[in-house]
Order: sequence, then C-alpha cells, then structure tokens
Amino acid sequence: MKVIDMKAPEALGERAPFYNALRDECPVAKIEAAEQEHFLLMGYDNVRTMLNDHERFSKHWGNQMVRLEEGVALNQDPPAFNDFRKLYTNYMSPRGVRRWSDDCKRVANDLVDQMRPLGSGDLQQLIGKPLPARVAAVALGFPEDRFDDYRRWTDTFLISMIEDPGAQQRTIDEMYAFFAEQIERVRQMLRDAGITEPAPEHVGTVLPDTLTSVLLTHKYNGQYLTDAMLHRTIRGFFLGGVDTTGALVLNLLYRLLERPERMEQVRENPALLDAAIDESLRFDPPAIGMFRETTEDFSVGGEVIPAHSRVLYSTFTANRDPAVYKDPDTFRLDRRPSETPIHLSFGGGAHFCPGAWTARMEAKLALEIIIARLPKLRLAGKVTHLDAINFFVVQSFPAAWD
Ligand code: HEM
Repeated sequence: MKVIDMKAPEALGERAPFYNALRDECPVAKIEAAEQEHFLLMGYDNVRTMLNDHERFSKHWGNQMVRLEEGVALNQDPPAFNDFRKLYTNYMSPRGVRRWSDDCKRVANDLVDQMRPLGSGDLQQLIGKPLPARVAAVALGFPEDRFDDYRRWTDTFLISMIEDPGAQQRTIDEMYAFFAEQIERVRQMLRDAGITEPAPEHVGTVLPDTLTSVLLTHKYNGQYLTDAMLHRTIRGFFLGGVDTTGALVLNLLYRLLERPERMEQVRENPALLDAAIDESLRFDPPAIGMFRETTEDFSVGGEVIPAHSRVLYSTFTANRDPAVYKDPDTFRLDRRPSETPIHLSFGGGAHFCPGAWTARMEAKLALEIIIARLPKLRLAGKVTHLDAINFFVVQSFPAAWD
C-alpha cells in the first residue's frame, strides 16, 4: 500500500494537486505516523460508506488521530448515539439557530467597526478567529471577553493534534476547568430559583436560552448528563465551530477577491451567497477529514485496512471527485443544488455536523456585512493556510480596505 506523509510540503499548502493525484492513484493510503496504523480513505463513495457504516467505522474512541474519551457523549455509535443526538437536534435546526442571528450581526458589525480605521490588516486575526469564537460564546452562554483564552485553546488544539498530543490533552484539561466554572454558574441559578429537578421549560425562563442550559436540563437514558458527558459535548460545540466557520468565511472571501468579477456578481446579486457558501464548502472544505476506527478488516481496491486501525476520511478528495462532480476543480457560483450531490464538508451519517445551520447562517450574515461595509476590500498579499493535516484553515490573510 502506498505510504504518504501528510506533513510533507506538497501535502500542505494548496492541497488540491496532491490529494487529487493520490485519489486517482489509489482509494486508500497508509499515513506515516505514530505507533498505531493510520490510513487515509479517499473518493466520494468510500467516504460516504465510511460516514454511514457505523458498525464497521466506529467513533467510540473519538474522531481525532489519537484515541480520546472512550464512549463518552459524542463518542458513541448508533443506535445509542441516536438518542443522545436528540438532546440538541431541535435547538440546532435551521429555525432554532435563528435565535443567534442578531448576535451574529452585532459581532460582525463590531469587528468591522474596529477594522475600518485600520485601512489594512490580517483578516484571520480581525475576523476569522474572533467572529466565530464570540458567536460560540453567545451560543453556549460563555463570556465573550475571554476571547484571548478561546484563541489560545483553539490554536493549540489544531496545531498540537499531531506533533504534540500532550499539549492537546493539556488544552483539554484547561478548557474543562473553564467549562466546569460555566456549568457551576448555571447550576447556581437553578439553586437560587429553588429548582432541584431541572427541566426543558427552564431554558429561556429561569436559565438563559443557551446550549449549556439545554444540556443541563434534558435527560439522556432517564438521567441528567454527567460532568464528563457535559464537558465532551461542550468541547465539540465550542471547538467544532470556531476555526471551521472562520475558515468558511475567509476561504470564500478569498475565492471572491481573487477574481474581482466574482465579487461583483455577489455584490450585484446577494442572493448568490447561499450557493457561494456551499460551493466554498465543497471546494475548500475547512475540515478536510476526521478519524474513525475500524471494527473489522475493511477491503477496498484490493487493499485491506486491518481491524482496529485509525482511518481518516478525506473530504477533500470526495468533494472533488470527478466521478460525482462535473468540472470538480472549478469554483462556480452557478452549481444548482438539485444537480449537485451534497458535499461532505459537514461529514455525514449519525455524526453529521449539528452546527451546519449555524455555520451557514453566521457566514452569510457576516459576509453580507463585510461586503456591504468594506466596498474597497481587496487582497494585499499571499493568503496562507495552517499546517494542520485535517483542517484547511487560514493562517494569515493580508487585506486592505481604505
Ligand atoms: C463551516 C463550519 C463547519 C464545518 C466545516 C464543520 C464540520 C464538521 C464535520 C466534518 C463534522 C463531522 C465530524 C466527524 O465526522 O467526526 C462536524 C461535527 C461537529 N460539529 Fe461541525 N462544522 C462546522 C461548524 C460547526 C459549528 C458552528 C458548530 C457548533 C455550533 C459545530 C459543532 C459540531 C459538533 C458538536 C460536531 C460533533 C458531532 C458528532 O460527533 O456527533 N460545527 N463538524
């Protein structure tokens, strides 16, 4: 089986040439990495199989390269997981997430107010990080002014994933101590109100209307969530939404600015933004893969992935698979959803991203504000991406708007 180094310079950077060529050569490759066997599974159909076949591809040990938090909360497989997911399905629905639309606009306007006098700067620092971190804080009911901590945690988590799992664990410990304080604040509100049996009707009445309140008032298998379950779930919602949504906003902005005629088209017809957002997700997936673990040998293309291997699904090669998409390596604003199979940038199956509607809404509202309020916005240097193997996240985005 072909062996690849996902940290090699040609595998980072633009990525498309490397991964397209690899997918065309083989459906599976061995990842040069730590002690355990790791594999990369490629192509639309294979990735879909992996996302939907929960019996053979388990999330029991999480979706990171290393095994973390066995069987806790989000780290479960159906059928048990289906009930867990019901805890927040409605809250995160297209209708449910509208509760944050005014906050998305407020935060985006505030960031643009801060940017305008500067005339130029790095959009990753000015928008990409703070926008989704502050919106995530609102959604979870956390203080927006702890942004420096949020930036540090999200940065460390992404970068340490491979080289330094110890740093990743330390970040998790630090985050969990913070989550514990926030959970305690909500529990205190319940105690102050004399409530011993928290219930869904307390969300938005006795308690603030936040995801943390939802998780503290709903029962799973007849029991309230344990602290370990709460921490794991809140980490998913917090980390899952920050760098990915920031990347969506900036990756799309880049595609619009690199061809000013595209930006003109969107300025003239803002209704194109919905299609542009999904085309950006397809073309530049912020999460370019997540891990599962095989429960038995899995054969593909004459190769065998042994049981108990960590396998990374490759969103990138799925979304640009010529067997599925016409003209896959062209960014187009005129792909009709009815003619185009859905990209796999939000994953699929039981673990399909519950933040998908939040991300789409947040990106759209922020881009409308950025495009309207910064009419002279343009690129002012080379946009670079972080050297993370499974995220396509902007590192620096030099731009000018005066
Ligand atoms: C453009 C933005 C986003 C992208 C590209 C993205 C991508 C993904 C992907 C690919 C998965 C599946 C992980 C897997 O297969 O193991 C996922 C899961 C998840 N996402 Fe998102 N996400 C985004 C935004 C958000 C937001 C805004 C939130 C929170 C509001 C969020 C919360 C989560 C959570 C909690 C999971 C875990 C689901 C589970 O394991 O059952 N995501 N996301």
